[in-house]
Amino acid sequence: MISSITLVIFLMFLFINLVWGVESKSDPRAFFVFGDSLVDNGNNNYLITTARADSPPYGIDYLSHRPTGRFSNGRNIPDLIGEQIGVEPLLPYLDPELNGEKLLNGANFASAGIGILNDTGFQFVNIIRMPQQLAFFDAYQKRVASLIGNEKTKKLVNEALVLITCGGNDFVNNYYLVRNSFRSFQYRLPDYVRLLVSEYEKILTRLYELGARRVLVTATGPLGCAPSVITLRSQNGECATELQRAADLFNPQVTAMIGLLNKKLGSDVFISVDAHHIFYDFIAKPKDFGNPLI
Ligand SMILES: *[C@@H]1O[C@H](CO)[C@@H](O)[C@H](O)[C@H]1NC(C)=O
Repeated sequence: MISSITLVIFLMFLFINLVWGVESKSDPRAFFVFGDSLVDNGNNNYLITTARADSPPYGIDYLSHRPTGRFSNGRNIPDLIGEQIGVEPLLPYLDPELNGEKLLNGANFASAGIGILNDTGFQFVNIIRMPQQLAFFDAYQKRVASLIGNEKTKKLVNEALVLITCGGNDFVNNYYLVRNSFRSFQYRLPDYVRLLVSEYEKILTRLYELGARRVLVTATGPLGCAPSVITLRSQNGECATELQRAADLFNPQVTAMIGLLNKKLGSDVFISVDAHHIFYDFIAKPKDFGNPLI
């Protein structure tokens, strides 16, 4: 009798602990995404633009096997990061479903075609350029504040994980878009890279002002190895050297800028992610990642 009461009490205690444990974790971390097509999850579907991923074969490996607006056969990097930190799949900021409680998960502000510079992607006409993505982030916070108040909104944003990915289009869809582009006429490559890095710093500073305190920052992947770039610029299927050179110049300078910015802010707010080498490894050593064919 006593032992069964003890057992019941023990089980109740365990139950309360479990519930409390679950409840104490019930403030999931919000997640915000900014950038270009590498991280857009559907915003451009709501825009009149040619930069869109709303027809097959986009999405063929996604759960629905249909195009979602992601520039991917399946999930993209924000989906994978979101799964790791246990947030609900993010909605694009322009999705009308993004309302009420759903706002508290965060939002994806990214838009395919954009770059660090406002003139990047001009050929896509109507895309959400970086200043507008940041303005939407501000507007988002006002909407959330009307739901849960200023104090809690600030906390939600401060504690959120943020991902920003841009820069590739400033090369592929600007400097190298045509043979004698305006920017390549205006700047030598090293000077153009310096311009991009200093403009990227302004964008990151604005993110900080808007409350971001934990930000993953990527520069560019191996631009010269993108299939479209190889098609246009390579002789024998090798990665195009000029765009590889651009990525090699740009990436370390972004990392250095982030280091200085963190020092200036007195806190490791920004984390540099070396997308170039992570991605290049997939190309150079496919066997290491489970591809037995090559
Ligand atoms: C980009 O446009 C915004 C306004 O939309 C402006 O405030 C900003 O200065 C521009 N950036 C550059 C580098 O011209």
